[in-house]
Amino acid sequence: MAESTVLETADTFRGEFAEAVLDGLARDVKEIPCRFLYDARGSVLFEEITQLPEYYPTRTEIGLLESHAPDIAKRAGSGCALVEFGSGSSRKTGKLIDQLDDLAAYVPIDIAHEALSEAADRLTARNPDLTILPVHADFNQDVQLPGAVQEAPKLGFFPGSTIGNLTQDEAADFLNVAGDLLGPESAFVVGVDLKKDTDILIPAYDDAQGVTADFNLNLLHRINRELDGDFDVSQFAHEVIYNPDAGRIESYIVSLADQEAHVLGEPVAFSEGERIHTESSHKYAVDEFQTLARANGWQPSEVWTDPQDLFSLHYLDKE
Ligand code: AVI
Repeated sequence: MAESTVLETADTFRGEFAEAVLDGLARDVKEIPCRFLYDARGSVLFEEITQLPEYYPTRTEIGLLESHAPDIAKRAGSGCALVEFGSGSSRKTGKLIDQLDDLAAYVPIDIAHEALSEAADRLTARNPDLTILPVHADFNQDVQLPGAVQEAPKLGFFPGSTIGNLTQDEAADFLNVAGDLLGPESAFVVGVDLKKDTDILIPAYDDAQGVTADFNLNLLHRINRELDGDFDVSQFAHEVIYNPDAGRIESYIVSLADQEAHVLGEPVAFSEGERIHTESSHKYAVDEFQTLARANGWQPSEVWTDPQDLFSLHYLDKE
């Protein structure tokens, strides 16, 4: 039987949602942090996004992992603990688990409790001898690794270009904090979406079926449900732009009318065309990401890209 321990470290998340929404909607430029897109419905919609023809990152990264998991395993050596940040469904991790030699444990870290236990059950069914030690936490906050893996060398895994959802300063902080958590002798595999033509980028975030629009607008449904909100969601739309200066896709919820909504009894006024910034997805050229990694405690030792230069998988060694 695989060992499964859930460490409860994120019980205050609902209060944080209220605070972030009230604070973000009171600003001159309205914004809500993208981590709140992932309630149960948002997580289902995100899984659907990853299957969309326009959303190339997931399938491209899976292809890279299929091709290069043996190289990764060779570099990582035997007996390491695999630590995944924001593990979600852990769908990509199986490719590494299959290849890593004498894996000490798999430590998925995620804020979504259900996704963590479902992924642990699925992986246990597939790999009955694997030790899985889930950590229920926001990987951006204070995380502690289970005592059982303190001694093992760590291989960090941060796929999906989730690092792109952080600002460059936040990404720098994250790389430092992850380095401290993983410790000396560790390595880090990070999936990073590459800069590319907006003809490919924009549809990836504004698909023809409207799944990404539903994912974004679900945030208003979530506010209505959890924070006693009264948004008329039909009076808002999904909007996406590429900001070339910041090198990022920006997602917004835009108001289609002058209107007022309420959150926990507080009025929130919108003028027609006013937006809530809900997500940024930064894109990095290979050398841009390597420079960021070098400046924040990691030595880039290998990078794999696909033939169309859509996506990159970086292997970093702790300095
Ligand atoms: C999770 N994250 C890397 C996705 C991205 O590409 O920024 C989230 C997403 N948002 C809309 N589509 C996908």
